Amino acid sequence: MAVLITGAAGFIGSNLVRHLLKRWPDRDLVSFDLLTYSGHLANLQEVATHRRHQFVQGDVADRGAVRTVLEDHDIDGIIHLAAESHVDRSIVDPMAFVRSNVVGTVVLLQEAARLWRDRTDVRFHHVSTDEVFGSLGDDGAFHEDHPYAPNSPYSASKAASDHFVRAWNETYGVPVVITNCTNNYGPYQFPEKLIPVVISRAIDGDPVPVYGRGANIRDWLYVEDHCDALALVYERGRPGHTYCIGGENTITNIDLVGMILDELDRARSEPIGTSRSLIRFVEDRPGHDYRYAMDIAKIRDELGWSPATDLTTGIAATVRWYLDNEAWMDIVQNEDSQSFADSWYASR
Ligand code: NAD
Ligand code: TYD
Repeated sequence: MAVLITGAAGFIGSNLVRHLLKRWPDRDLVSFDLLTYSGHLANLQEVATHRRHQFVQGDVADRGAVRTVLEDHDIDGIIHLAAESHVDRSIVDPMAFVRSNVVGTVVLLQEAARLWRDRTDVRFHHVSTDEVFGSLGDDGAFHEDHPYAPNSPYSASKAASDHFVRAWNETYGVPVVITNCTNNYGPYQFPEKLIPVVISRAIDGDPVPVYGRGANIRDWLYVEDHCDALALVYERGRPGHTYCIGGENTITNIDLVGMILDELDRARSEPIGTSRSLIRFVEDRPGHDYRYAMDIAKIRDELGWSPATDLTTGIAATVRWYLDNEAWMDIVQNEDSQSFADSWYASR
């Protein structure tokens, strides 16, 4: 018996595989990933020869590939992270998000339900985002009962997948849990999301693009803390329940970008403020959600989880990791991501 981690070669997935191999000394893990532009075996190099870990390349929307991996490895638990994950790309190519995020999730649910029948000693954990709830004004926070109001093709595809997961619990009795988490950051994040974009561009001395006036607010969670929360919900979350996960670290984009650039100056022994000259305000993202924030009372009260890493500590660790891993950046950057970034930022 083994647990299947989909999207394991991506940012959160690869951090989760490392976390779980240490946390669960007697469970086997099977990593399943299509290796798209954002998924790389280099992210799993540290565990490539681990005796309780195997990697299988495949597409979650490919029924045959999913059936084979579930049956061959006697899978009794799934943590589903495989997805197209970048909002900007979803604006340019929404259908890729429908295919991987919606169709992929339904295929996985159908095959799990078929294999497991009425078993209750199994688990389907769907990893989702706070973006399904839409955008907040200046007050309040998302919580488990917040109405869904996705605004981007990415968040709409994740919202759809959440609903299908819920339906497979209600209709077919699959024991599911869903987690909705705020923005993650940390080692191995693909250099298309805000924090690694800022670090990698500033390392190269390139302009750092800030959408609009940088007034949008996000809640940031260090990826290791997310992995701890995911493991706890997988182990002890109540079947059929949703758990909201957040960093309790809300900040405007412009303040965050300044903080990262100052940390980079500090790490490179440059006068603090030097890198801020790279900031460029560019045309805003269409449909740009103003603010995200999360009420984490449920996971705190039921499972005793709260974020352990404050933003200053997490940003310092992340900047250090990117400075120490410039070779990784060369491995994961590819033609697809480069040409998307070139045309996206050229049009801003
Ligand atoms: P990522 O882009 O780094 O990784 C996604 C992985 O999924 C990649 O390895 C990719 O190759 C794989 N993949 C994509 N389509 C696939 C398919 N059809 N079949 C198999 N594999 C496929 O993304 P991430 O940031 O690690 O996000 C992982 C999950 O967590 C996603 O479901 C995302 O919605 C969710 N999430 C992310 C954040 C965040 O801030 N990054 C926050 C909350 C939730
Ligand atoms: P991102 O990392 O893409 O995550 P999400 O859109 O899922 O929250 O973006 C985080 C915030 O940073 C978001 O408000 C958009 C903004 N942003 C920029 O200002 N410049 C950039 O180059 C990117 C990628 C994002």
